[in-house]
Amino acid sequence: MTIVSLLLLASLLPQLTFSAHVKVGIVNGIEAKPHSRPYMVSIQLDKTHICGGFFISDEFILTAAHCWNGSQTLTVVVGAHDLRLSKNSDRIGVKSYIQHPSYNRHFPWNDIMLLRLQEKVYLNNVKWISLPEKGEDVEANTHCSVAGWGRVDINGQMTNRLMEANVYITNNTECHQKWGNMFSPKQMMCTHGHGGSCIGDSGGPLVCENTAVGVTAFGYKSRCNDPEKPNVYIKISPYIQWINDIISNVREM
Ligand SMILES: *[C@@H]1O[C@H](CO)[C@@H](O)[C@H](O)[C@H]1NC(C)=O
Ligand SMILES: *[C@@H]1O[C@H](CO)[C@@H](O)[C@H](O)[C@H]1NC(C)=O
Repeated sequence: MTIVSLLLLASLLPQLTFSAHVKVGIVNGIEAKPHSRPYMVSIQLDKTHICGGFFISDEFILTAAHCWNGSQTLTVVVGAHDLRLSKNSDRIGVKSYIQHPSYNRHFPWNDIMLLRLQEKVYLNNVKWISLPEKGEDVEANTHCSVAGWGRVDINGQMTNRLMEANVYITNNTECHQKWGNMFSPKQMMCTHGHGGSCIGDSGGPLVCENTAVGVTAFGYKSRCNDPEKPNVYIKISPYIQWINDIISNVREM
């Protein structure tokens, strides 16, 4: 039984667009008002955007675990709107990469990572976003939003300016029907809407009422925002204890 489901899972894996194999902007979105999402960061490899992320304290970024392969040196661009312009923004190194201990890059579970920055950030246009309470759930059909610098089309280019789109939380039964065993209702949530995430948006937040409730994780390989393969996010509320333990450990050091 276990073997069958693992094999099935393995054969499904190439469909994971936002995951490491094919890095996963926003399709059918609009340009965000500059600096209206001061928690957003661009995670970069060799000065190229690869993932989104967001500030949850003055020195910690939350993102997806698949945004780091275990040995790369990533940098984080903070306070940016247009990635071509360095005015208002800053590039900061990463002091520690803390992938969830149960994350395995061959699987979609626990795809969540904290980055501790090399320095605290005191820019005017940088601010952290609040997280949900431990165990809190968001009701289906709640109106939320996503943002990122990813592709505006599956075959298109990344965008230089931050884009955003409105989305609605899809009920777990439906997500599970559409994604099968890759979707874990305890750890994940999915959304529908006219616009949504695409390649390069991984790691960015799913925001409901000014709270980051999810981390953009994966979607359909062949088409962004496909109604039959809705975008999936790691639900943050089950990870609050893990996050708080790491952040408070640092405070005591
Ligand atoms: C991670 O990516 C770098 C290049 O970006 C490569 O040199 C390295 O071998 C990769 N490491 C692993 C563990 O895949
Ligand atoms: C979830 O969605 C499915 C399919 O659209 C629907 O049949 C079901 O009633 C919904 N469940 C809840 C609890 O809203």
